[in-house]
Amino acid sequence: LIRRVRNAVLPVAGLGTPVMPGAQTTPKTLLHVVDRPILSYVVEEARAAGIEHFVFIVGRGQGAIEDYFDHNPEVEGALEAKGKTEILADVRRDLPRPGEMSFIRQMAPLGLGHAVWCARDVIGDEPFAVMLPDMLMVAERPALAQCVEAYGEVGGNIVAVEPAPKGETHKYGIVALDGQDGRLNRMTGMVEKPPLGTEPSNLFISGRYILQPEIFHILETQERGAGGEIQLTDGMAALMKRQDFHALEYEGTTYDCGDKIGLLRANVAFALRRPDLADEARAAIQALL
Ligand code: G1P
Repeated sequence: LIRRVRNAVLPVAGLGTPVMPGAQTTPKTLLHVVDRPILSYVVEEARAAGIEHFVFIVGRGQGAIEDYFDHNPEVEGALEAKGKTEILADVRRDLPRPGEMSFIRQMAPLGLGHAVWCARDVIGDEPFAVMLPDMLMVAERPALAQCVEAYGEVGGNIVAVEPAPKGETHKYGIVALDGQDGRLNRMTGMVEKPPLGTEPSNLFISGRYILQPEIFHILETQERGAGGEIQLTDGMAALMKRQDFHALEYEGTTYDCGDKIGLLRANVAFALRRPDLADEARAAIQALL
């Protein structure tokens, strides 16, 4: 039975230690890539995959995220009065329709598995997407849409993966496959942050998932794993004993905005992709080299 994926869970509560001190007062998912917060791109990707409702798992001091996705009468009023209609449209581009977004406080930084579990009452008994919003994905066909498409083919649970840079598998969740034929393959296992040399493949879990609601029962009692955190990867590994999991090596490029250089790379890459900025951006970057 394949049910439509209507909801996406976005765990945004992480402290953002690698992008301090800026992340003290600006939640890391609101840091800019060119002129928009990281979250703006992720929400756009979700909409392109048919997502209708967004469940943000937030932490203390992250009220700015809710504010970003609400009207700002002062800014909108001023732009309107000055006739700046283009900027006004751009400001309003990310606004949801009322009721399309829920915000849940995680209340304790216990890990990604715990964050996802916090969404259980809002999601209910439906398959749902999880999007790790540090990861910006650029693709002809948006990454989550590729996952939803794969889900339509094989059902069950889908985990987006991509090859890890050499020597970096220990930083991620890594999957084991039942042979490799094309981009969509059945998984036989997964492990969170395996010590180097023990990784079952070089494919890392890159931050887009389609999951069945049974994961919530497992996360309810999931014990702490790597790093002392309740890991989503461990919960999925447990669910895999009863349900199918497929890994999708999606077509596209990922920018990990969770650290300084990744955020810088994303800014350069996205500026170079913007038709209105590309020429100036290229000249400015070249002048620095
Ligand atoms: C999380 C997940 C991990 C995944 C990674 C992608 O880890 O637990 O499986 O590979 O995101 O960025 P974190 O980066 O929160 O340590």
